Amino acid sequence: MTRTEELEKRLNLLVKFGGLISTETNLNKLLELIAEQVKHMLDGDRCTVFLLDNETNELWSTIAQGMDNTEIRIPYGKGIAGHVAESGQIINIKNTYADNRFNNELDKLTGYKTKTILAVPLTNINGKIIGVFEVINKNTTYFDKDDEGILMLMGSLASSAIENAQLYENLSKSQLETIYRLAVTAEYRDQQDTAIHLRHISEYSGIIAEEMNLSEKEIENIKYASPLHDIGKVGIADAILLKPGKLTAEEFKEMKKHTLYGSKILSNAESNLLQIACKIAAFHHEKFNGKGYPDGLKGDKIPLYARIVSVADVFDALCMPRIYKPEWPKEKAMCYIKEESGKSFDPVVVEAFLKKEAEIFKIHDTLDGRTTLIPGMHRTPRNNSK
Ligand code: C2E
Ligand code: SIN
Ligand code: SIN
Ligand code: FE
Repeated sequence: MTRTEELEKRLNLLVKFGGLISTETNLNKLLELIAEQVKHMLDGDRCTVFLLDNETNELWSTIAQGMDNTEIRIPYGKGIAGHVAESGQIINIKNTYADNRFNNELDKLTGYKTKTILAVPLTNINGKIIGVFEVINKNTTYFDKDDEGILMLMGSLASSAIENAQLYENLSKSQLETIYRLAVTAEYRDQQDTAIHLRHISEYSGIIAEEMNLSEKEIENIKYASPLHDIGKVGIADAILLKPGKLTAEEFKEMKKHTLYGSKILSNAESNLLQIACKIAAFHHEKFNGKGYPDGLKGDKIPLYARIVSVADVFDALCMPRIYKPEWPKEKAMCYIKEESGKSFDPVVVEAFLKKEAEIFKIHDTLDGRTTLIPGMHRTPRNNSK
């Protein structure tokens, strides 16, 4: 292949790369994707994406070691990666063991022999360095000038995608915390086991969404947004919410307003997650046959997220003791869900729910709300093995 042909091929790959990475908002997946693409494009044996941790002033990355992912951390200014982060300059080394900036501790740890390294800084649009790309061991000889240019380009494309994903993660983590505080506040009055109920709703909704082949993003959304469905109960007076017996028609009319209060509390949010939560709060008591509240919406007119949460909510409400009713055995609750298919509930949602009966029952039996308040929340591992 001539050099022009080679560059043309790479340009095409670069365009594809830009498109591919721009839609991934999960940071870990994004980093994997980038590493894979960079390796492929530069014909290297490995690629490591280091990100700068401003709190500790270290560069961190996860590397595959055997079957596990281990986090490695390099102090700013140390090693090849640290030098690149500090200087903002490319480093292209043809013989690493002859270079005194190279730190072979990682090689010792992994049993891998690093021969050549090309490392470039990752810079955001404000010119701030957010990390370092390293490609290691060119399969043929060593990395050349063209490789340097390509890696810089990939770096600038990757930087914005990485920042985006980081922003997204931070946002959603602090949102999640707020959400749970709000949700717990809303529900602790009428339920002692608030945390369990919220956790159940979240898990059940996620399982249904998964079975219905919703995208990963949508599954995540529904898991995180569903616990807010009854936030509007904060606006309901104790005399009604905590009434031990059956509500009068008048009282139930008041009770139904929790959907409106909820959608008001969550309205006009900028965050996508809260917008979804708003729809769920507003419409989780709509019925598939149009006989629900607040608007009497029918079928697909009810947002899908709300149709899913409705099944999860009713199943769990039946299985839990309430001040106004004892708990039902899970089998009986399951029968009720089945009977209400096409009436209260979307048959497609019910079908997904029934298919997952075993998994649902297992969660019903084992999940205790103390494990974690925040479902699916897992932090970046920090085992600081440096
Ligand atoms: P919740 O207790 O979280 O119940 C959520 C939904 O689960 C109910 O929505 C209903 O669809 C279903 N559900 C709960 N318990 C039963 C039951 O024993 N039988 C049947 N067939 N379905 C049940 P719904 O009816 O729109 O009620 C919304 C909220 O209004 C309830 O939330 C609860 O906080 C309150 N509520 C409803 N009925 C009464 C009542 O008789 N007394 C009191 N104190 N509160 C009630
Ligand atoms: C470094 O010195 O930057 C670490 C080298 C490596 O990633 O193998
Ligand atoms: C997120 O909501 O995107 C973060 C979930 C995680 O901890 O991976
Ligand atoms: Fe409700």
